[in-house]
Amino acid sequence: MRHLITVTTLTPDDVAALLERAEYRLAHPNGQTLAQRVVANLFFEPSTRTRFSFEMAIKRLSGETLNFQPSTSSINKGESLEDTIRTIEAMGVDAMVIRHEENGIMHRLTKFVRVPIINAGEGTNEHPTQCLLDVLTIKQAFGRLSGLQVAIIGDVLHSRVAGSHFNLLPRLGMEILLSGPFAWMPKQVPNGVRIVTMDEALKADVVMMLRVQKERMTAIEIPDFKAYRQMFGLTVNRARLLKPHAIIMHPSPVNRGVEIDSEVVEHPQSVIFRQVTNGVAIRMAVLEELIQERRPDPIWATATAR
Ligand code: CP
Repeated sequence: MRHLITVTTLTPDDVAALLERAEYRLAHPNGQTLAQRVVANLFFEPSTRTRFSFEMAIKRLSGETLNFQPSTSSINKGESLEDTIRTIEAMGVDAMVIRHEENGIMHRLTKFVRVPIINAGEGTNEHPTQCLLDVLTIKQAFGRLSGLQVAIIGDVLHSRVAGSHFNLLPRLGMEILLSGPFAWMPKQVPNGVRIVTMDEALKADVVMMLRVQKERMTAIEIPDFKAYRQMFGLTVNRARLLKPHAIIMHPSPVNRGVEIDSEVVEHPQSVIFRQVTNGVAIRMAVLEELIQERRPDPIWATATAR
């Protein structure tokens, strides 16, 4: 791996190795593998989980972070994104974690940036580390991935998380079901993905609710939230229909009382906060894979040699 822009570049073996390394980091959360390494976090869109979990991951591995604030940067003086990125690279950072609203921007940046770029969420395209942390959470819950049904419910059209899941989950043996308003279903349903009713979606092993992404909609597209909850929300009553072994996921941030009831966020079958914890571990694994390969962590090397 040179960059992590899309999950399409990951083989099932790559994913298995990242999950194994993330599990190791859950058990051994402190390391030295990024000592004297500096990672720039460049978030051009708001974030709590992804930004802070990357920062947490870097600090846990003894690295340093540069945190970029678009509102106080020279972007406001008219500097282009490309010049900003080249400037930060020229300072000698070891990697860049980037979130940006524009589809295709990451690929464009890889044409001239030599240090690893990690996609922390690109437009409506992909969110690879969210996808990997979701896969880790599913694997922990079921002990396997193959043969599971994953229902993704809600605003699929605007979801970069769903974009990454389409590109990875079927290759790991999972079936994806989609449910939600017709207008929010993908214009081209990917191979092997089925659009189903809410009743069928609620029978899946994994029920993944998506946030209604108001910021990506025009005023006329924003639904009436009460009506949306009644038709497609994971309400307390709908949660009673889930299989006893099913898990409830949400990439967050959550609109409580819209796509999911507040009580369901706290439901015994909800793994929503487990996803956040796993996010730090998976980002540690990705950073180690991309940055420190030339300097293996002796603890990790010893653990995998056993
Ligand atoms: N899931 C996710 O990307 O959350 P943030 O927008 O808070 O980073």
